[in-house]
Amino acid sequence: MSEPFVAILMGSESDLPIMQAGADILRLLEIKHEIKITSAHRTPSITQQFISEAEARGCQVFIAGAGLAAHLAGATAAQTTKPVIGVPIDAGPLSGLDALLSTVQMPGGIPVATVAIGKAGAKNAAYLAAQILSLADPDLAERVKSERVANAEKVQAQDQALQDSL
Ligand code: RP5
Repeated sequence: MSEPFVAILMGSESDLPIMQAGADILRLLEIKHEIKITSAHRTPSITQQFISEAEARGCQVFIAGAGLAAHLAGATAAQTTKPVIGVPIDAGPLSGLDALLSTVQMPGGIPVATVAIGKAGAKNAAYLAAQILSLADPDLAERVKSERVANAEKVQAQDQALQDSL
């Protein structure tokens, strides 16, 4: 069987600075991943083809980020029964609230696990994908736990630096 991987999809190159934060977490956790720019609206058939081929090649979790009338995560979820995590992106005058509502309000039976708007959401999508994959990968589960500890240590170090400066 092919090596499991995570596919990160985004609707436009303009989403890349946000979605890169998720890719960085996957790299940190040593999770194989692919990144693709494809749009639910502008390139619907390429999106559909990528999803079915990615699933056949071993994709276990899809992460989809989009802004405005963000339908990419929903369109992905419509094509696969693998978990789909949606990242709403702030790409217009409504500051991402439009994308949040488009991404989260899926009809029953076609779930999209929706995370926060923007960079925190992109990071959490990656952590969540890691946690899903770690259910069947004890080594990855250990890396996820270590990363959680490292995060806590970072906050403690920040506080220590603050206390030392007072
Ligand atoms: C969405 O439209 C994309 O995901 C992006 O967030 C937004 C704006 O796209 P561009 O006009 O910057 O290409 O489909």
